[in-house]
Amino acid sequence: MKLLVIHGPNLQLLGTREVNVYGDVTIETINNVLTEKAKASHSDISIMQSNHEGDIVTAIGDAPTNGFQGILINPAAYTHTSVAILDALKAVSLPVVEVHLSNIYAREEFRHTSLTAPAAVGQISGFGLHSYVLGLDALIHHLTA
Ligand code: DQA
Repeated sequence: MKLLVIHGPNLQLLGTREVNVYGDVTIETINNVLTEKAKASHSDISIMQSNHEGDIVTAIGDAPTNGFQGILINPAAYTHTSVAILDALKAVSLPVVEVHLSNIYAREEFRHTSLTAPAAVGQISGFGLHSYVLGLDALIHHLTA
């Protein structure tokens, strides 16, 4: 099983970015944990991070051609703004799990709306690094159930 993991804008700064909100986990740690977990589940993951909406849209659109069977995404700020990412996720009709480190529903009101979640099988929000672990697990479970 080949899965695509997408980190959205500013997530390359994890570890030093708003530590009171996101904790001190780095993107490298998240990626290492996901890679190990994927291996243990006999899955193959490719991981990308981009600060550019168009790059994320293109990666989603190319995902079926590139052999991916599912997408784990933290769209970060684009969660709340990006019709383009929503449309891309809907267009490829691959199973998608959306994750957030923080509980977006316990934060500012503008974060309470996810434009992208309607294209997802489900969303996990608020468990820090563990949101990604649970999200990968949920995606693999969805694909194998
Ligand atoms: C985030 C939540 C978003 O509201 C925010 O813009 C992010 C990170 C999270 O993982 O908690 O950049 O997606």
